[in-house]
Amino acid sequence: MLWILIGVMAAVTAVCLLDSWYERYHFRVIRETVASPKIGPAFDGYKVVMLSDLHNNSFGEENERLLSAIDRLKPDAVMIAGDMIVAKGVHSLKVPLHLIGELAKKYPVYYANGNHETRMREEREIYGSQYEEYTAELKKLGVHLLIDESVTVCRGEDRLGISGLELDKYLYKGLGKAVMEDGYMDKKLGAADERDFHILLAHSPLYFEEYAAWGADLVFAGHFHGGTIRIPFLGGVMTPNYMFFPQYDAGTYRQFGSVMVLSSGLGTHSINIRLNNRPQLICVELKRERRERTKG
Ligand SMILES: [Fe+2]
Repeated sequence: MLWILIGVMAAVTAVCLLDSWYERYHFRVIRETVASPKIGPAFDGYKVVMLSDLHNNSFGEENERLLSAIDRLKPDAVMIAGDMIVAKGVHSLKVPLHLIGELAKKYPVYYANGNHETRMREEREIYGSQYEEYTAELKKLGVHLLIDESVTVCRGEDRLGISGLELDKYLYKGLGKAVMEDGYMDKKLGAADERDFHILLAHSPLYFEEYAAWGADLVFAGHFHGGTIRIPFLGGVMTPNYMFFPQYDAGTYRQFGSVMVLSSGLGTHSINIRLNNRPQLICVELKRERRERTKG
């Protein structure tokens, strides 16, 4: 009886490992629509491909499958919510640089740092000048590196604000949400311009309420890798920093008068497992929403 049990457990483990290996290299395309009266007619139908947490993963040789899928979506812009690299031990930067380089030839690319980019910059005793080399390459490629910076894209009178927030390390620490100090968002990014439909690239989803209060109409986040293993009806089990059943794991959240699109990411690190949790290539289409006219 014991041997049968051991045999069944070994078979289940083998199936799970095989499935996890398959999932890690087969992404899913997720399409989402975000509507707002703040989206001007010139940005009605504007398509954003959102990438996060690639962590050096490659879908086919030199990410050819990912690049083809992005081309088929015909985006107006590519927005990156951080962690394209792995800063846990020294790794090559070739994979993300090649992918982003190919994208930047065709599309405007906006990039905000995740905790791995921040770590690479701050731990010089391990990474030396890798961060400076990486960001210098990105700038050479024409990438809009938004490190606590904002840009406005104008089409006639219609405006799209895009901000990239780099969260300080204390906001990633612990097994839950830390307390974001008062005025933090304003200090980092200045006040959000009320004329803009404002997109915020912010790696951690934990501070959605604070992002919305600052003025983000649409937030792109990642970081939690969908919770590693997803259980139907319960969602993601565990984040890479060992937070169990997180409040936000993956998907689109409409709260606080804002929308957050949270990606399961495209790669893994440390816990190289994905079960019922395929990597995600996300495409968001902006739609102009007409204001209801009140009868008077
Ligand atoms: Fe992260």
